[in-house]
Amino acid sequence: MNYTNLFTLLDGNILIITINREQRLNALNKQTIIELEDVIKNAQTQADIRAIIITGAGNKAFVSGADIKEFIGLSDSEGRALATFGQNAFNSIETSIKPILAAVNGYALGGGCELAMACHLRIASDNAIFGQPEVKLGIIAGYGGTQRLIHYIGKAKAMELHMTGRNINSAEALYLGLVNYVVPQSQLLNKSKELLNEIIINSPKSIEGIIKSINSYFESNNSGFNNEIEEFGKCFLTNDSKEGVSAFLEKRKPNFTGN
Ligand code: COA
Repeated sequence: MNYTNLFTLLDGNILIITINREQRLNALNKQTIIELEDVIKNAQTQADIRAIIITGAGNKAFVSGADIKEFIGLSDSEGRALATFGQNAFNSIETSIKPILAAVNGYALGGGCELAMACHLRIASDNAIFGQPEVKLGIIAGYGGTQRLIHYIGKAKAMELHMTGRNINSAEALYLGLVNYVVPQSQLLNKSKELLNEIIINSPKSIEGIIKSINSYFESNNSGFNNEIEEFGKCFLTNDSKEGVSAFLEKRKPNFTGN
């Protein structure tokens, strides 16, 4: 299947999906999210696909976030709809019965960090940078980031990273438990394939059972994801979100007033 913003390649039994918007540092616009959800859904029923790698085009960015240009002029209900749409797509990654690994080849910010966290495994190149900088735009994460970051690094560090919007490098991401391994960029795909090949010699039914069982540990309380949708929507009622988004696009510092 041909996609506008994705490049796909079947390497043995591993489907490699490359997000291909290098000029925008692979920012996730709606079209890209639709395509991602579609390719993951189709892969579920293709017997020759045993595992999936998601990576970004180029050597600078995995995904630099949701496409900030699509935030301009959103109402609160449109904000809620966008968060619901993004969460649904990322849930389809998390609940894939075939293992999905994020090969994080550079910036994984905002929606990029959320995408990596929705995957079952993460391997970062040594130049990777992670963060949830939405607060600097006068908004919050909306694609599951307030919830999944807690799962990986705990409440205290999740609070810190979301509230400061500060980025962390690959070494800190490894230390905090956000990524499984860090390797030189030239080794990223090889190491990713090596790990997945070690997994896919095992029974697909066992892998499916493991994914479902481990996911179910985190499913007892979905209200956090719903609260995130509500709070993401509310952000678009504020002048601060308009200021934050304009400031990024105009390449200046925002002036937040609390309104
Ligand atoms: N949405 C839309 N456009 C984006 C983007 C995003 N998330 N991230 C980068 N871009 C665009 C930039 O606007 C720029 O476009 P231009 O060439 O028309 O000016 C282009 O991609 C290259 O990015 P640039 O900012 O010039 O690269 P840099 O090396 O100076 O900085 C980043 C890289 C990742 C630090 C910076 O792009 C950034 O902070 N991006 C936004 C991160 C973010 O807030 N993500 C969360 C969104 S919810």
